[in-house]
Amino acid sequence: MTLEEALRAAFAALEAGARLRHGAFHTPALATIGRDGAPALRTVVLRGFDAATRCLAIHTDCRSAKYAELIADPRAVLHGYDAATRMQLRLAGRATLHHDDAIADAAWAASRKTSRMTYATAWTPGTALPAPPAAPEDPVGGRAHFAAVLLRFDHLDWLLLDPAGHARARFDWAADGAMAASWVAP
Ligand SMILES: Cc1cc2nc3c(=O)[nH]c(=O)nc-3n(C[C@H](O)[C@H](O)[C@H](O)COP(=O)(O)O)c2cc1C
Repeated sequence: MTLEEALRAAFAALEAGARLRHGAFHTPALATIGRDGAPALRTVVLRGFDAATRCLAIHTDCRSAKYAELIADPRAVLHGYDAATRMQLRLAGRATLHHDDAIADAAWAASRKTSRMTYATAWTPGTALPAPPAAPEDPVGGRAHFAAVLLRFDHLDWLLLDPAGHARARFDWAADGAMAASWVAP
């Protein structure tokens, strides 16, 4: 395994994760910095991956805690693990938020009706309720709450578990796109 092959495997896994519902990286965990400075973590669906720009796309409700956290501090990490290939990826970068622009409009247009309905709930995510609410059925009204999050990663930590010896590599991209790669101790 070379560093180039490790990077290729990582990008292929992200591409498959965005495309395949049952791909291992389809539901990674997104870490943000909570408003109190504590770590905050949740599962999200990986909606897109553009290898050329290293951008990962996620959809969320602009009333959610994570959205406010990313407004306050755009630094975020996405984590995924594929038990079949025994590969862990950790992708760190900065998020841009798209609520009322062409990127959000295109993401909304491309999303399924059932996905759109979830954004039509009257309740701000995290609101205390006496019981779980009924599923929203409005496929249109949720647009006001829908947002696309693009996470452009500049750091990739790649780990492959192997009985013959675990392998770990770190990839860093500078602002001009230049990449530095090295093996690191697992
Ligand atoms: C399999 C799975 C997929 C999920 N996908 C998303 C998603 O794409 N976007 C999202 O905002 N929340 C998603 N959630 C819900 C989040 O994990 C989280 O509970 C919710 O967004 C509130 O998070 P927050 O309070 O940290 O903002 C998903 C949960 C699960 C279990």
